[in-house]
Amino acid sequence: MEMSIRPRRLRGSEVLRKMVRETRMDKSSLIYPIFVKEGTNIKEEIPTMPGQYRYSVDTLPGTLEELLDAGVNKVMFFGIPDHKDEVGSQAYAQDGIVQKALEKARAELKNEMYLITDVCMCEYTSHGHCGVLCGTEVENDQTLELLAKTALSHVQAGADMVAPSDMMDGRVRAIREILDANNHKETPIMSYAVKYASAFYGPFRDAAGSAPSFGDRKSYQMDFHNRREGLKEAILDVEEGADIIMVKPALSYLDMIREVKDAIDLPVAAYSVSGEYAMVKAGAKLGCIEEDRIICEMAASAYRAGTDIYLTYFAKEIAKFMDEGRIG
Ligand code: PBG
Repeated sequence: MEMSIRPRRLRGSEVLRKMVRETRMDKSSLIYPIFVKEGTNIKEEIPTMPGQYRYSVDTLPGTLEELLDAGVNKVMFFGIPDHKDEVGSQAYAQDGIVQKALEKARAELKNEMYLITDVCMCEYTSHGHCGVLCGTEVENDQTLELLAKTALSHVQAGADMVAPSDMMDGRVRAIREILDANNHKETPIMSYAVKYASAFYGPFRDAAGSAPSFGDRKSYQMDFHNRREGLKEAILDVEEGADIIMVKPALSYLDMIREVKDAIDLPVAAYSVSGEYAMVKAGAKLGCIEEDRIICEMAASAYRAGTDIYLTYFAKEIAKFMDEGRIG
């Protein structure tokens, strides 16, 4: 008797395909990174990141409203100060740029927008390194104090969550301790734990003017050849009290997202960084790729690899694609 071969994969309608979809994503897991700078009435495009802008505090609420309308209700602030010095004092100044942006966003948007801040020194130091220097080396322990001070000042100005990105040893513990001691026990820490020394940050450094004036970040960011080291960093940050572990960049590090997801019990975040954004924009402009489809595929791959949270400059576009049923 002849047997007909049935297809191995389900081959029904779109309705059926969506029912059996293995990876689900929704807007509540999207975080949009945003640059704020001193001045008024500023919305200037970042040359290496077409479609992304630096905002002054007064133009910020309008943009945040647009994000809320699109269904994105989480942002992460990066500050670009006017004044940089050796010890990055504007990072923890009460009237620092991020502190002012937080106050403005909180006043105008109440609790509608969840406010996260990047905690680091490199945008604030004259030399562009992520901490204070001793000679030409970043001094780890002295930097911890300043990072903790910065995190506390962000929370006092209205941040819902802080995200240290500096990669100093012991910073999650230092930040946890200072927040606890100041009655902010509930404020979570999202740690940039698995952060590689990456050329994908190039456009960001242009956006924030934070490229190191000498040397590189290889002494404190990780070598991209290493897998176990990444896991070790993640586990150490869990022990220090991190609430969410981030892998960064996303696209070339999907394996690390999966490794971290399998190894730890905390939510995992993946940051699709400036270089990923710039590549897509440049490729699309040249007519080499279909931008929308690439954005969807990149996002889905991060979630498929295991991320729970996705930080991306394409957050608004992805939210729209979700509404249109193209991904989700
Ligand atoms: C600060 C920081 C960087 C990014 C996030 N936080 C730059 C760096 O480490 O050089 C990169 C984000 C991006 O490229 O989009 N240390």
